[in-house]
Amino acid sequence: MNAINRLAAVISLASLFPLSALAADAPAESKGTVEVVHWWTSGGEAKAIDVLRKLVEKDGYTWKDSAVAGGGGAAAMTVLKTRAVSGNPPSAAQIKGPDLQDWGALGLLTELDDVSKANNWDKLLSKTVANTMKYDDHYVAVPVNIHRVNWLWINPVAMKKAGIDKAPTTLDELFAAAEKFKAAGLIPLAHGGQPWQDSTVFEDLVLSIMGAEGYTKAFIEQDEDTLTSPKMTEVFKALKKLQGYMDPDGTGQDWNLEAAKVINGKAGMQIMGDWAKSEWSAAGKKAGTDFECVPFPGTQGSFTYNIDSLAMFKLSAKNNTPGNIAAQNEVAKIILEPEFQYVFNQNKGSIPVRDDLDMTKFDSCGQAAMADFKAADKAGTLKPSMAHNMATSLAVQGAIFDVVTNFMSDKNADPAKAGAQMASAIKAAL
Ligand code: GAL
Repeated sequence: MNAINRLAAVISLASLFPLSALAADAPAESKGTVEVVHWWTSGGEAKAIDVLRKLVEKDGYTWKDSAVAGGGGAAAMTVLKTRAVSGNPPSAAQIKGPDLQDWGALGLLTELDDVSKANNWDKLLSKTVANTMKYDDHYVAVPVNIHRVNWLWINPVAMKKAGIDKAPTTLDELFAAAEKFKAAGLIPLAHGGQPWQDSTVFEDLVLSIMGAEGYTKAFIEQDEDTLTSPKMTEVFKALKKLQGYMDPDGTGQDWNLEAAKVINGKAGMQIMGDWAKSEWSAAGKKAGTDFECVPFPGTQGSFTYNIDSLAMFKLSAKNNTPGNIAAQNEVAKIILEPEFQYVFNQNKGSIPVRDDLDMTKFDSCGQAAMADFKAADKAGTLKPSMAHNMATSLAVQGAIFDVVTNFMSDKNADPAKAGAQMASAIKAAL
């Protein structure tokens, strides 16, 4: 069963359930309510989404926050499907990439024609971003930010303590640095052993070892020859080697708790997208002095992107009031306005989705991300992140996650066999 059929089977059960009340419990003086499902619950990320809440409330609407904890959003997606099944969708939810097409195909999302035309979204957004947000040529979601996934975060004080004079730029240098951190009694790599975190490291290694073209073949084309190639064996070997330097207490650990270990100097480095910067910023640390951000070794010149977006749902009968629709449109409008884009993205660690903003307001990591995004776009090395729902259906992504995480949890796993296992797991998921 493909992703659409799977989602459709779940949603068609909706008819078995009565329509239940949504967020219609707005106070009498509210102009309308907007309920938002998201998974931004770490300290820095909660601060970022709070920017939206404040702007919505300032305009007289009621914000109903339906955060579902869990990095990468798997738990939030489960909640969202259950809500859709019971005919009780929120007004907006964080849904990303190709998954938007599945939800759109089910007729559950609302078209944002009025607000997108009135505010010139086609002009404001790059083609890559705009196309991801559209279903059947209509906007059904609003992009909030662009994250870069292929980053390495380093604590310079820890680096000094370990006698490392510069941030690693190649995989060999990364292993050498890890060895030095270990010798200095530090955790070389902060890493939470959750499937999406494992696969974030895996996709970085694919990009580093196979290059941007190999990345495209492996994840976007899911080309069998590439998945079973000797280069893929090399990727799995490197993953096993890197695993030897990961936090021994990291099993099942949240990414932000692992980030805290680098921030407080217990660990030297973390391989993570730039939402990790939200934790550094929330802790009052400054880019370039208190922490370093460098492209994941061997991936300089490429940019794996992860666009966060809020999809807007057709409201249930009970909630379909002019006030609630106005609240939904207000959120859509606010998200692309400069006021929100500046403050939200500074807090979130990402870069704005519109490219007419003044990037000198951002720190050195943000400025580097914007410059690298544009350069990669020109060079054809701007690639959608597999681990963050941008490159494949959720079913294919799930198959890849399973193979990667099983490989990491099996001490005797054979790197030469993992690629073939991945190819057949992907086939079964299609
Ligand atoms: C990503 C999401 C980011 C961040 C991260 C950790 O999938 O796009 O905004 O929340 O998960 O939860």
